[in-house]
Order: sequence, then structure tokens, then C-alpha cells
Amino acid sequence: EKGGYAHFMLKEIHEQPDALANAIRGRLDFNLGTSVLSGMGTSPRELAEISRIVLVGCGTSLHAGLVGEYAFEDLANIPAEVQQAAEFRYRNPIVSRNDLVVAISQSGETADTLAAVREAIQKGAFVMSLCNVVGSTIARETSRGVYLHAGPEISVASTKAFTCQVAILLMMALKLGRGRRFSREEGMQLAKAIESIPDLVARTVRQSDHIAEIAARYAKNEHAFFIGRGPMYPVALEGALKLKEISYIHAEGYHAAELKHGPIALLEKDTPVVALACDIPGKDKTLGNVEECRARGARILGIITEGDHEAAAVMDDVIEIPRTHPLVATIPAAVALQLFAYHVANARGCEIDQPRNLAKSVTVE
Ligand code: F6R
Repeated sequence: EKGGYAHFMLKEIHEQPDALANAIRGRLDFNLGTSVLSGMGTSPRELAEISRIVLVGCGTSLHAGLVGEYAFEDLANIPAEVQQAAEFRYRNPIVSRNDLVVAISQSGETADTLAAVREAIQKGAFVMSLCNVVGSTIARETSRGVYLHAGPEISVASTKAFTCQVAILLMMALKLGRGRRFSREEGMQLAKAIESIPDLVARTVRQSDHIAEIAARYAKNEHAFFIGRGPMYPVALEGALKLKEISYIHAEGYHAAELKHGPIALLEKDTPVVALACDIPGKDKTLGNVEECRARGARILGIITEGDHEAAAVMDDVIEIPRTHPLVATIPAAVALQLFAYHVANARGCEIDQPRNLAKSVTVE
């Protein structure tokens, strides 16, 4: 049932080109330069009325929401914010009728996310879900939603659900963007970049053996930092979460600019720093932060754009991802970090599919 892979997690990482192709198939309209997400069930008129987007979720799904926040603001020019689902549910959130609340949940059963959905419905928001499990409670209670079509995710550590969530959020942002300032030409370009995601991910997954060699050099460390800027900031958070949950290495994700406000005090010789330094706006600043870490003796693993010699020159190790749209690049970058976490955990002999203390779906608060 693991299809020849040692763990479900590795199988699911490798399934991503197909899972993403399924998530994207039939959902792009190249003629109009937009996306077709019938599950959103919205007329262009209703879409035009959306004045704010609130994304809610937990864990990895929350991190997907953080990428979505960048996409909605950048592409669709709509104010967007992310709230941890439990926080949303208990803070008596301000929600108005032109707010779109997007609940993100692989399982569709997470208790806090479900409670956030009920709260948002109660407050009269326009509520949608992004679930993977068809017919799950959250999918049923939100009358509108888009399924991921990622296929069953067995491994406790979420992989293909995350990348499919991000792909769908990008398609939603494309649709909302086209209803606003985005031209047909710009829409077509983004649609093409989204269409290429399965290929970008296939090229990243093919580096699994190379990533395993790198990972072996980090398997003995007990701490690691992940840094990124812009849309790569949530990818840094997700990379740290993946590493800590399956390898039990203490890993922290930070915005690269936050390092010198405290965390840099923890860097010692050979402390691993994973830098999301792809060639997107802000790269030069991230490379500057990498230099600051190097000056403290840290060992740097760079996730960089292929052929970027400038970035490679300041790293101890590199994993290259294909050049693409900056928001789309979050997906292959996240895949590289999934493989890194997997191979580190494997080198440490960890029980990868069933990490201690964790359950696949958290149905209690
Ligand atoms: C991490 C992980 C968890 C889940 C979180 C939300 O790898 O799997 O952090 O992302 O428990 O689960 P869903 O998406 O099912 O609501």
C-alpha cells in the first residue's frame, strides 16, 4: 500500500505532481486568463463585493493560509489576514457581510477550524472551505468550497495537502484579481505559471537523493532555524514545522528580518540555518541575513533558484528549485523542505508516519 516507498510520507511527497495536476485540472481558463472554481459558487457580482478576506486554519493549513494572504493582497488587491482558528473562535472576531472567510483544513474535521466556521456563519460572513476529505464536516457545513482532490493523505505530517491548498489559493487569488485590476494578459501569465506547478514539483522531487545526502549532514544537530521573507516566510514556518514534528529537532521559523531582534543570539558554530533565498523580490536582503548568520559560524542550507551563482556562493549547501513566479515558487520550495525534513528524520531513525504525540486529525480543542 506504500507503493514501494519506505513511508507514506515519502509516497505522498512523490505523489505531489499528480495530486497538483488533479487540483488544477479543469480549473484554469486560458482564454479569459482566469480560473474556474465552480465550488466557490459566486457570481462575478458577488466576488466584486468581497472587501476583506480572513483565512482560518491550524498548523500546516494555517501556513498555506499565510501564503494565501500574500496572494490575495498582491494579486487581487483585497485586504487579507490569517487567523489561527482557535484565536478566531474565541476573540469575538469582527466580521461583516462583505467578508469572505476561507476555512482551510485537509481533514475537514479539525475542531477549532470547525468552530471558527460556525462562528463566521453566525456572524453573517460569506464562508468557504478548502478541504481534502470529501463530505467532511467542514466541507458539509460551508455551503461553498473547493476540494483539493489531493487523494488520501495518510502520513500524519501533511505534504501534498499543503501544496494543493496553496495552488488553489493562488487560483482563487487569480479569479478575484481578474475581477479587479488584473488584465487578461497578466491573468494568462499567472494561469500558465500555475499550470506548470506539477512540472516544477516533479523536477524538485527528482532531487530526493541529492537532498538525502545533504540531510545526512544535518541529522546530528538538535536545533535549526528557517528564515524567509515575503511569501517565503510562511514556507520557512512550514519547513520548521515539518522538521520538528518528524525528526524531533528543535526547529524555529522566522522572518529573516526578525533574526537580529533576538534569535540570532542562539546561533553558534554549525547551528543549521535554512535560508529560503529564491530569486524573488527581497532576495538580496535575505542574502544579507545569511551573511550575518555565517559571521556567527552557522551552517547555511540555501533553497535557491537554479543557476543563481550569487546565492549559491554564500551557502554551505544548496537545493535548487526551478525559476517561476514568486508566489508559485513557494510550492517547489516547500517540497524541497518536505524532502529535507523526511531525509533528516530517516537518517535519525525516526518513526516518520506516526510521530509521537501527534494525531492525523485533531478533533478536540
Ligand atoms: C502538520 C499537520 C498539522 C495539520 C493541522 C490541521 O504536518 O499535519 O499541523 O495541518 O492539524 O489539520 P487539518 O488541515 O486537517 O485541519
